[in-house]
Amino acid sequence: MKKHLIIIGFMGTGKSTIGKMISQSLRLEYLDTDEIIQRDRNCSIPEIFEKYGELTFRNLETGVMEQTVQNTHPSIITTGGGIVLRSENRVAMSKYGWVFALHAHPKEIIRRLQEDTSRPLLQGGSLEERVLHLYEERKRLYQFADYHIDTDNQTEQQVANQIKDIWFNLIKSGDAK
Ligand code: S3P
Repeated sequence: MKKHLIIIGFMGTGKSTIGKMISQSLRLEYLDTDEIIQRDRNCSIPEIFEKYGELTFRNLETGVMEQTVQNTHPSIITTGGGIVLRSENRVAMSKYGWVFALHAHPKEIIRRLQEDTSRPLLQGGSLEERVLHLYEERKRLYQFADYHIDTDNQTEQQVANQIKDIWFNLIKSGDAK
């Protein structure tokens, strides 16, 4: 059942960058839930939040997750940081993929997202407070992942290599094809 390589993690941990790098070198299709939502709705994530609210976004996100895990060939799937909020998403990811959680210290996340304007949940008020609040609320929700990668003191290439090494071992042992 498990066949995809799925990357989860808090905003700013590098999920899409790493996912794209891995998909290029492993030559596996790359799917990003946020990209699919935006393409399907022809609307940016901030616009979806603004016009329809977070609940609508979460429903779209769950729908896209359900579809992407049904992809017949193994794919690299990257997700929005809040995909872990719903237990049904966590169950689907664990069932259909090897789940890699990218971690970063909240201070590092704040540093990386300093100039960001594309994430509705971080707009308005203090970025520090928003990140720390969400981080505390969510950190336990990333724990179900099969593998945990600390990105703080690693380059993107090193993180990608670490994930690829684990993936190759899974293939060798016959767990992933
Ligand atoms: C969200 C993270 C975003 C995007 C949306 C909501 C979240 O994705 O899905 O803004 O709830 O953490 P990234 O993790 O790629 O920033």
